[in-house]
Amino acid sequence: MSAQTQVRRITAPQIRARKGQDPLVCLTAYDAPMARLLDPHCDLLLVGDSVGMVVHGLDSTIGVTLDMMILHGRAVMRGAKRALVAVDLPFGTYENSPQQAFENASRVMCETGCQAIKIESGTYAAETIAFMAERSIPVIGHIGLRPQAALADGGFKAKGRTEAERQRVIDEAIATDKAGAFAIVIEGVAEDLAREITEAVSVPTIGIGASAACDGQILVTQDMLGVFDWTPKFVKRYDNQAERSSEAFARYADEVRSRQFPSDAQTYSLKPVDG
Ligand code: KIV
Repeated sequence: MSAQTQVRRITAPQIRARKGQDPLVCLTAYDAPMARLLDPHCDLLLVGDSVGMVVHGLDSTIGVTLDMMILHGRAVMRGAKRALVAVDLPFGTYENSPQQAFENASRVMCETGCQAIKIESGTYAAETIAFMAERSIPVIGHIGLRPQAALADGGFKAKGRTEAERQRVIDEAIATDKAGAFAIVIEGVAEDLAREITEAVSVPTIGIGASAACDGQILVTQDMLGVFDWTPKFVKRYDNQAERSSEAFARYADEVRSRQFPSDAQTYSLKPVDG
Protein backbone atom coordinates (compact mmCIF):
# COMPACT_ATOMS: atom_id res chain seq x y z
CA MET A 1 0.00 0.00 0.00
CA SER A 2 1.49 3.37 -0.97
CA ALA A 3 1.36 6.46 1.20
CA GLN A 4 -0.62 8.27 -1.52
CA THR A 5 -4.23 9.18 -0.90
CA GLN A 6 -6.38 6.36 -2.27
CA VAL A 7 -9.34 7.41 -4.41
CA ARG A 8 -12.38 5.45 -3.24
CA ARG A 9 -13.79 4.00 -6.40
CA ILE A 10 -16.82 1.76 -6.44
CA THR A 11 -15.54 -1.82 -6.61
CA ALA A 12 -16.74 -4.95 -8.37
CA PRO A 13 -17.79 -6.60 -5.06
CA GLN A 14 -19.81 -3.44 -4.22
CA ILE A 15 -21.60 -3.67 -7.58
CA ARG A 16 -22.22 -7.37 -6.99
CA ALA A 17 -23.68 -6.62 -3.54
CA ARG A 18 -26.32 -4.38 -5.14
CA LYS A 19 -28.30 -7.44 -6.30
CA GLY A 20 -31.93 -6.73 -5.44
CA GLN A 21 -30.98 -3.38 -3.83
CA ASP A 22 -31.04 0.19 -5.22
CA PRO A 23 -30.95 0.06 -9.03
CA LEU A 24 -27.49 0.43 -10.60
CA VAL A 25 -27.07 3.61 -12.65
CA CYS A 26 -24.80 2.92 -15.61
CA LEU A 27 -23.90 4.76 -18.83
CA THR A 28 -21.23 4.49 -21.51
CA ALA A 29 -18.24 6.84 -21.64
CA TYR A 30 -15.53 7.15 -24.24
CA ASP A 31 -13.57 10.28 -23.29
CA ALA A 32 -12.32 12.21 -20.25
CA PRO A 33 -14.60 15.30 -20.29
CA MET A 34 -17.77 13.20 -20.57
CA ALA A 35 -16.51 10.76 -17.91
CA ARG A 36 -15.97 13.74 -15.57
CA LEU A 37 -19.58 14.86 -16.11
CA LEU A 38 -21.01 11.35 -15.69
CA ASP A 39 -18.92 10.31 -12.68
CA PRO A 40 -20.97 11.90 -9.86
CA HIS A 41 -24.19 10.35 -11.18
CA CYS A 42 -23.18 6.83 -12.13
CA ASP A 43 -22.22 3.64 -10.29
CA LEU A 44 -20.60 2.16 -13.38
CA LEU A 45 -19.17 3.66 -16.56
CA LEU A 46 -18.70 1.32 -19.50
CA VAL A 47 -16.14 2.01 -22.18
CA GLY A 48 -18.26 0.05 -24.64
CA ASP A 49 -17.12 -1.14 -28.03
CA SER A 50 -20.13 0.90 -29.19
CA VAL A 51 -17.40 3.57 -29.37
CA GLY A 52 -16.81 2.22 -32.89
CA MET A 53 -20.30 3.26 -33.98
CA VAL A 54 -20.84 6.30 -31.73
CA VAL A 55 -17.45 7.99 -32.08
CA HIS A 56 -15.73 6.43 -35.09
CA GLY A 57 -18.73 6.13 -37.44
CA LEU A 58 -18.54 2.36 -38.02
CA ASP A 59 -21.69 0.45 -39.06
CA SER A 60 -21.23 -2.13 -36.32
CA THR A 61 -18.84 -2.91 -33.47
CA ILE A 62 -16.88 -5.25 -35.74
CA GLY A 63 -13.69 -3.40 -36.60
CA VAL A 64 -13.10 -2.02 -33.12
CA THR A 65 -9.59 -2.96 -31.98
CA LEU A 66 -8.01 -3.56 -28.60
CA ASP A 67 -5.82 -0.47 -29.11
CA MET A 68 -8.93 1.68 -29.61
CA MET A 69 -10.44 0.32 -26.38
CA ILE A 70 -7.22 1.01 -24.48
CA LEU A 71 -6.98 4.58 -25.80
CA HIS A 72 -10.58 5.36 -24.81
CA GLY A 73 -10.27 3.43 -21.54
CA ARG A 74 -7.29 5.55 -20.48
CA ALA A 75 -9.16 8.76 -21.28
CA VAL A 76 -12.21 7.67 -19.25
CA MET A 77 -10.01 6.68 -16.29
CA ARG A 78 -8.53 10.20 -16.31
CA GLY A 79 -12.02 11.72 -16.14
CA ALA A 80 -13.77 9.39 -13.66
CA LYS A 81 -12.65 9.18 -10.06
CA ARG A 82 -15.51 7.41 -8.31
CA ALA A 83 -17.53 5.18 -10.63
CA LEU A 84 -16.36 1.68 -11.47
CA VAL A 85 -14.95 1.74 -15.00
CA ALA A 86 -15.36 -1.38 -17.14
CA VAL A 87 -13.91 -1.81 -20.63
CA ASP A 88 -15.29 -4.08 -23.39
CA LEU A 89 -13.09 -6.65 -25.08
CA PRO A 90 -13.83 -6.15 -28.78
CA PHE A 91 -14.68 -8.82 -31.38
CA GLY A 92 -11.84 -11.25 -32.08
CA THR A 93 -9.87 -10.57 -28.91
CA TYR A 94 -11.33 -13.23 -26.55
CA GLU A 95 -13.32 -15.89 -28.41
CA ASN A 96 -10.37 -18.05 -29.48
CA SER A 97 -9.40 -19.36 -26.05
CA PRO A 98 -9.51 -18.49 -22.34
CA GLN A 99 -5.77 -17.77 -22.58
CA GLN A 100 -6.30 -15.25 -25.40
CA ALA A 101 -9.03 -13.58 -23.33
CA PHE A 102 -6.87 -13.45 -20.20
CA GLU A 103 -3.89 -11.96 -22.08
CA ASN A 104 -6.00 -9.24 -23.69
CA ALA A 105 -8.06 -8.50 -20.57
CA SER A 106 -4.96 -8.19 -18.41
CA ARG A 107 -3.38 -5.90 -21.01
CA VAL A 108 -6.48 -3.66 -20.97
CA MET A 109 -6.48 -3.57 -17.15
CA CYS A 110 -2.75 -2.83 -16.86
CA GLU A 111 -2.70 -0.18 -19.60
CA THR A 112 -5.90 1.64 -18.62
CA GLY A 113 -6.21 1.05 -14.87
CA CYS A 114 -9.87 0.02 -15.32
CA GLN A 115 -11.44 -2.26 -12.70
CA ALA A 116 -13.40 -4.67 -14.86
CA ILE A 117 -13.78 -6.22 -18.30
CA LYS A 118 -16.99 -6.97 -20.20
CA ILE A 119 -17.38 -9.70 -22.78
CA GLU A 120 -20.37 -10.82 -24.81
CA SER A 121 -21.19 -14.16 -23.29
CA GLY A 122 -22.89 -16.82 -25.31
CA THR A 123 -22.85 -20.14 -23.42
CA TYR A 124 -19.54 -20.97 -25.13
CA ALA A 125 -17.92 -18.13 -23.13
CA ALA A 126 -18.50 -19.72 -19.71
CA GLU A 127 -15.08 -21.41 -19.67
CA THR A 128 -13.44 -18.11 -20.59
CA ILE A 129 -15.27 -16.18 -17.85
CA ALA A 130 -14.30 -18.81 -15.26
CA PHE A 131 -10.66 -18.76 -16.43
CA MET A 132 -10.47 -14.97 -16.08
CA ALA A 133 -12.47 -14.74 -12.82
CA GLU A 134 -10.26 -17.42 -11.18
CA ARG A 135 -7.25 -15.31 -12.16
CA SER A 136 -8.63 -12.16 -10.48
CA ILE A 137 -10.16 -10.41 -13.47
CA PRO A 138 -13.58 -9.00 -12.57
CA VAL A 139 -15.82 -9.91 -15.51
CA ILE A 140 -19.21 -8.59 -16.63
CA GLY A 141 -21.12 -10.81 -19.08
CA HIS A 142 -23.41 -9.56 -21.86
CA ILE A 143 -26.31 -11.72 -23.05
CA GLY A 144 -29.44 -11.49 -25.17
CA LEU A 145 -28.85 -9.19 -28.13
CA ARG A 146 -25.09 -9.41 -28.57
CA PRO A 147 -24.00 -6.59 -30.90
CA GLN A 148 -20.82 -8.43 -31.94
CA ALA A 149 -23.10 -11.15 -33.39
CA ALA A 150 -25.11 -8.64 -35.45
CA LEU A 151 -23.59 -9.73 -38.77
CA ALA A 152 -24.29 -13.40 -38.05
CA ASP A 153 -27.80 -12.55 -36.78
CA GLY A 154 -28.65 -10.32 -39.77
CA GLY A 155 -28.95 -7.13 -37.73
CA PHE A 156 -29.67 -5.81 -34.24
CA LYS A 157 -32.70 -7.90 -33.26
CA ALA A 158 -34.51 -8.34 -29.95
CA LYS A 159 -33.99 -11.80 -28.46
CA GLY A 160 -36.23 -14.37 -26.82
CA ARG A 161 -39.16 -14.15 -29.20
CA THR A 162 -39.38 -17.89 -29.80
CA GLU A 163 -39.37 -20.57 -27.10
CA ALA A 164 -36.00 -21.91 -28.30
CA GLU A 165 -34.43 -18.45 -28.35
CA ARG A 166 -35.87 -17.64 -24.93
CA GLN A 167 -34.30 -20.81 -23.51
CA ARG A 168 -30.98 -19.92 -25.18
CA VAL A 169 -30.92 -16.50 -23.45
CA ILE A 170 -31.76 -18.11 -20.07
CA ASP A 171 -28.97 -20.66 -20.63
CA GLU A 172 -26.54 -17.81 -21.43
CA ALA A 173 -27.51 -16.03 -18.21
CA ILE A 174 -27.14 -19.08 -16.00
CA ALA A 175 -23.83 -20.10 -17.61
CA THR A 176 -22.47 -16.53 -17.21
CA ASP A 177 -23.54 -16.41 -13.56
CA LYS A 178 -22.15 -19.85 -12.68
CA ALA A 179 -18.87 -19.05 -14.41
CA GLY A 180 -18.25 -16.19 -11.99
CA ALA A 181 -19.24 -12.92 -13.69
CA PHE A 182 -20.03 -10.24 -11.08
CA ALA A 183 -22.79 -8.62 -13.17
CA ILE A 184 -24.65 -9.39 -16.39
CA VAL A 185 -25.78 -6.94 -19.07
CA ILE A 186 -29.05 -8.11 -20.66
CA GLU A 187 -29.78 -6.46 -24.00
CA GLY A 188 -32.95 -6.45 -26.10
CA VAL A 189 -35.32 -8.81 -24.29
CA ALA A 190 -38.94 -8.43 -23.15
CA GLU A 191 -39.81 -7.60 -19.55
CA ASP A 192 -41.02 -11.08 -18.57
CA LEU A 193 -37.78 -12.69 -19.76
CA ALA A 194 -35.67 -10.00 -18.05
CA ARG A 195 -37.59 -10.66 -14.82
CA GLU A 196 -37.17 -14.44 -15.08
CA ILE A 197 -33.43 -14.06 -15.63
CA THR A 198 -33.03 -11.47 -12.88
CA GLU A 199 -34.74 -13.84 -10.44
CA ALA A 200 -32.69 -16.83 -11.63
CA VAL A 201 -29.17 -15.39 -11.33
CA SER A 202 -27.18 -14.51 -8.21
CA VAL A 203 -25.60 -11.31 -9.61
CA PRO A 204 -27.11 -7.96 -10.66
CA THR A 205 -28.59 -7.73 -14.14
CA ILE A 206 -28.10 -4.45 -15.99
CA GLY A 207 -30.66 -3.96 -18.72
CA ILE A 208 -30.40 -2.13 -22.02
CA GLY A 209 -33.71 -2.33 -23.83
CA ALA A 210 -34.63 -4.95 -21.24
CA SER A 211 -37.13 -3.12 -18.96
CA ALA A 212 -37.13 -2.05 -15.32
CA ALA A 213 -37.28 -5.70 -14.22
CA CYS A 214 -33.45 -5.66 -14.15
CA ASP A 215 -31.25 -4.61 -11.21
CA GLY A 216 -30.12 -1.51 -13.10
CA GLN A 217 -29.95 0.12 -16.51
CA ILE A 218 -27.25 1.11 -18.98
CA LEU A 219 -27.70 3.27 -22.06
CA VAL A 220 -25.36 4.63 -24.67
CA THR A 221 -24.86 8.18 -23.35
CA GLN A 222 -25.09 9.81 -26.79
CA ASP A 223 -28.46 8.07 -27.37
CA MET A 224 -30.00 9.43 -24.17
CA LEU A 225 -28.55 12.88 -24.88
CA GLY A 226 -30.11 12.95 -28.36
CA VAL A 227 -26.84 13.40 -30.25
CA PHE A 228 -28.11 11.49 -33.30
CA ASP A 229 -31.13 11.99 -35.60
CA TRP A 230 -32.26 8.42 -34.86
CA THR A 231 -32.39 6.39 -31.70
CA PRO A 232 -33.25 2.84 -30.63
CA LYS A 233 -37.00 2.81 -29.80
CA PHE A 234 -36.51 1.88 -26.15
CA VAL A 235 -34.26 4.88 -25.40
CA LYS A 236 -35.76 7.81 -23.53
CA ARG A 237 -34.09 11.03 -24.63
CA TYR A 238 -33.17 13.42 -21.83
CA ASP A 239 -31.85 16.15 -24.14
CA ASN A 240 -31.84 17.14 -27.78
CA GLN A 241 -28.17 17.84 -28.29
CA ALA A 242 -28.22 17.47 -32.08
CA GLU A 243 -30.64 20.37 -32.43
CA ARG A 244 -29.06 22.51 -29.72
CA SER A 245 -25.56 21.97 -31.14
CA SER A 246 -26.68 22.87 -34.68
CA GLU A 247 -28.19 26.09 -33.36
CA ALA A 248 -24.97 26.89 -31.48
CA PHE A 249 -22.81 26.20 -34.57
CA ALA A 250 -25.04 28.41 -36.72
CA ARG A 251 -24.84 31.22 -34.14
CA TYR A 252 -21.05 30.83 -34.02
CA ALA A 253 -20.77 30.93 -37.82
CA ASP A 254 -22.90 34.11 -37.96
CA GLU A 255 -20.82 35.82 -35.28
CA VAL A 256 -17.48 34.91 -36.87
CA ARG A 257 -18.72 36.11 -40.26
CA SER A 258 -19.71 39.42 -38.69
CA ARG A 259 -16.33 39.60 -36.86
CA GLN A 260 -17.86 39.31 -33.37
CA PHE A 261 -14.98 37.31 -31.87
CA PRO A 262 -12.24 38.23 -29.41
CA SER A 263 -8.82 38.74 -30.96
CA ASP A 264 -7.00 39.68 -27.76
CA ALA A 265 -4.34 37.14 -26.60
CA GLN A 266 -5.08 38.03 -22.97
CA THR A 267 -8.34 36.11 -23.28
CA TYR A 268 -6.25 32.88 -23.11
CA SER A 269 -6.35 32.86 -19.30
CA LEU A 270 -8.97 30.46 -17.88
CA LYS A 271 -12.13 31.66 -16.19
CA PRO A 272 -14.93 29.67 -14.58
CA VAL A 273 -18.00 29.31 -16.77
CA ASP A 274 -21.36 30.03 -15.23
CA GLY A 275 -24.70 28.99 -16.62
O1 KIV B 1 -20.80 -1.42 -26.23
C1 KIV B 1 -21.67 -0.97 -25.47
O2 KIV B 1 -21.82 0.24 -25.32
C2 KIV B 1 -22.48 -1.93 -24.74
C3 KIV B 1 -23.72 -1.53 -24.05
C4 KIV B 1 -24.18 -2.41 -22.98
C5 KIV B 1 -24.33 -0.27 -24.09
O3 KIV B 1 -22.16 -3.06 -24.71
